[in-house]
Amino acid sequence: MLFPDFRARRLRATENLRKMIRETKLSSDDLILPLFAVEGKSVKKPIESMPGHFQLSCDNIVKTVKQAHNTGILAVILFGVPDKKDPLATRAYAHDGIVQKAIKAIKDNVPEITIITDVCLCGYTDHGHCGVIDKGIVDNDASLDLLARTALSHTKAGADMVAPSDMMDGRVGEIRQTLDEEGFSNIPIMSYAVKYSSAFYGPFRQAAESAPQFGDRKTYQMDPANAIEAIREAAMDIEEGADIIMVKPALSYLDIIYRLKEEIDLPIAAYNVSGEYSIMKAGEMMGWVDANEIIMEVLLSIKRAGADLILTYSAIDVARQLNN
Ligand code: PBG
Repeated sequence: MLFPDFRARRLRATENLRKMIRETKLSSDDLILPLFAVEGKSVKKPIESMPGHFQLSCDNIVKTVKQAHNTGILAVILFGVPDKKDPLATRAYAHDGIVQKAIKAIKDNVPEITIITDVCLCGYTDHGHCGVIDKGIVDNDASLDLLARTALSHTKAGADMVAPSDMMDGRVGEIRQTLDEEGFSNIPIMSYAVKYSSAFYGPFRQAAESAPQFGDRKTYQMDPANAIEAIREAAMDIEEGADIIMVKPALSYLDIIYRLKEEIDLPIAAYNVSGEYSIMKAGEMMGWVDANEIIMEVLLSIKRAGADLILTYSAIDVARQLNN
């Protein structure tokens, strides 16, 4: 049907009509809030490049998680900033490590919230790489055991889900096997399966104090030029036992989210990463854009592309807008 018989504007005439035919809807159920845990008491140290975000000691993490829960958010993902770093990332899998303590504090105070933990070594190694180093190279197989130990230790502390972000080959299988052997076969794995080597992680590395001290992450994170490889990465992790497949970053990779949605039958998560957040906030601070409207449009685009879940630093603000 063509104009004038068909008029596309008829169904755009009122907010009611627009709502009735809306194809994609955001919900606070879809949002996961990332938080950074540090040692100490009453610590709330602003992360300069991510306005509105802080390194938080356990007492303040609990406050923020309560606030998130009150706005309707169902889940948080925890990153730890340890006091001490070493070549083998021992504080990543210590029973009194910072993430382990944060998990317990949240479980004691806000048991309703689902706790996901980021499983990686980069924040805990003195060299800042996501695995252990052998002769200047990130040693894939030697890193697997430490990653599995980290995931197990988070789970023992009470984590509800683990999310490996290191990009070592085979880590999902190793983690699944370890969790199963230890009686945690019910704990899901959200795999950062399709994680690109991206400049959009810049502000996060300041927040997590996890920048590599030499070289870069290009030998383990994906080349932004590759899309078919994303399908292979996802397939590999599904074979190994992943329950949710993540694409990261989100905005420059909407095509990848879309492709995976067509190809795989698991829930897809997308990480609206630190750089995406900081750019938007910078625009807001300059008075050039309306960040509230932009973030809604951004998250909608990520969901429209096919993401079921979105990790975003804007989760609390957005949940507030959605549920008011
Ligand atoms: C750890 C990790 C990173 C992010 C999540 N987990 C950083 C990296 O790989 O350097 C990035 C998150 C963000 O930028 O918001 N491996």
